[in-house]
Amino acid sequence: MPQTGAPGRKALEDLRSQRWFASDDIRGFAHRQRTQQMGMRREEFMGRPVIAILNTWSEISPCHAHLRDRAEAVRRGVWQAGGYPIELPALSVGEVMVKPTTMLYRNFLAMETEELLRSHPVDACVLLGGCDKSTPGLLMGAFSMNLPTIFCPAGPMLNGRWRGQTTGAGTHTKRYWDKLQTGEITSDDWVDLESAMTRSNGTCNTMGTASTMTSIVDAMGLTKTGASSIPAADSGHPRLASWCGARAVEMAWEDLKPSDILDADSLSNGLAVYMALGGSTNAAVHLPAMAGRLGLSITLDDMADRATRIPVLANLFPSGDRLMEDFYFAGGLPALMKKLGDHILPHARTVEGRSIGDAIAGAACYDDDVIRDIDNPVVPLSRGRALIVLRGNLAPDGAVMKTSAANPDKLSHRGPALVFDGPGDMFARINDPDLDVTPDTVLVLRGAGPVGGPGMPEWGNLPIPRKLLKAGVRDMVRICDGRMSGTHYGTCILHVSPEAAVGGPLALLRTGDDVVLDAEAGRIDMDVPEEEIAARRAAWTPAPSPYTRSFTALFQRHVAQAHLGCDFDFLGGTDPVPEPPIY
Ligand code: FES
Ligand code: MG
Repeated sequence: MPQTGAPGRKALEDLRSQRWFASDDIRGFAHRQRTQQMGMRREEFMGRPVIAILNTWSEISPCHAHLRDRAEAVRRGVWQAGGYPIELPALSVGEVMVKPTTMLYRNFLAMETEELLRSHPVDACVLLGGCDKSTPGLLMGAFSMNLPTIFCPAGPMLNGRWRGQTTGAGTHTKRYWDKLQTGEITSDDWVDLESAMTRSNGTCNTMGTASTMTSIVDAMGLTKTGASSIPAADSGHPRLASWCGARAVEMAWEDLKPSDILDADSLSNGLAVYMALGGSTNAAVHLPAMAGRLGLSITLDDMADRATRIPVLANLFPSGDRLMEDFYFAGGLPALMKKLGDHILPHARTVEGRSIGDAIAGAACYDDDVIRDIDNPVVPLSRGRALIVLRGNLAPDGAVMKTSAANPDKLSHRGPALVFDGPGDMFARINDPDLDVTPDTVLVLRGAGPVGGPGMPEWGNLPIPRKLLKAGVRDMVRICDGRMSGTHYGTCILHVSPEAAVGGPLALLRTGDDVVLDAEAGRIDMDVPEEEIAARRAAWTPAPSPYTRSFTALFQRHVAQAHLGCDFDFLGGTDPVPEPPIY
């Protein structure tokens, strides 16, 4: 272990943790004393980089249930490489259980990450997470703190299968729910499915938000290249965790920080992978927020523009029909990146200390159906893309749609709106046999935005009214100022900005107004005369928020709109924050 700085390596006295442990004053004494109180010998922590293991394990997040064990593997790697590991529990934003939505807590996790790193004697960190918002939450905080950082993705769960049929998390929950409504499966089948669809720990095995985000940050160079494809239950996963621990120690000496790794090229590689995966629309919220923490920019148009040039190559639900375990065996992310050719900028750096070009140089694809060649995509660009942006008098600042998982026949559509104010109103009425609705109706749910939800919940995949489901209808045009699970599909216009709760034009739409969607032209409009819209606007008043205190009140006061990424107005940018005084 170097005690003085070799070229490119920090000297021991320059490690951040030395401010806590090295001083001979009463504070330094207390820090060493309290560490020994935990049973550590002086030799076990003195003179070593301190590596924080930020663990989003919890007993109610199945996607992260194995991370308690993985922290042990990270610890092993840290000790082996000469560091001192400290595990710091962080908020576990597990999808499905957390209400109203984990998105309400993404910024909270980002703040917690940044402050855990700032307030403790940390030289480098390994971030353990992967379920949807945990990836952007952890990384936004780590970018802002800018200590050497490795992301260790939780890994996808194993493939699911039920009575010989492939079942993917999220996607098939929805599909079988619709079949239950129409009597195609029984309630006994439905109970049986509960135990069949999710076979192991790990994140959703479809190309939902989890694998979208872990793959994007993998492509950006923030983990061992290809790590995001390793299934959670594979023995390669604890080996990955151990590697992350060992590498974090090296990165502490090298002082290799996110700002040294991430640049416009790495973000560009992340976008290329996002589109080739047919990734979740949720990424369109997280990426602008993540870029904002780096002092860089990713706009809706940057993303949609990339989607015009890169078709969906990964044959994964919901755009395709395979699962993440298949993707792993096919060669995983490195194979996909190799097939992207010139769309990947090879000089971008990675935490491994080598370029992404070097990291994928030896990659090969072992199943050309799962990872398609660029001239044989899952969805040709003429039929659908991972992301399009729509604007018009309903969404002046933009709305998004994933046309690769939508019905091509619905992409040019005119129909009367059926407006629901919040999910309570929707569920009270949607299955009413007397509901005035036809397959051409445009279903609208508002009050689901960042302020209105609050937290922009995944309510945008509005259910098809039961009477239409029974008549064979499987897709309708739907509009929402909230989000949709990345595992879902359908002609859903999402993230309408500005949202209804802050007076966006969606608030002015009325049931019966004609709505016009022209996906090709990138338009979403209500066919209502200008004067009428102006009159409705003059009469509109915001509903008072029931949240006068709590984190939600802070959230509602400071959150940015969806097209900007929903970060808080006081968290973006790269203004330096003073190190904590130690007295
Ligand atoms: Fe955690 Fe899907 S619910 S990744
Ligand atoms: Mg999800």
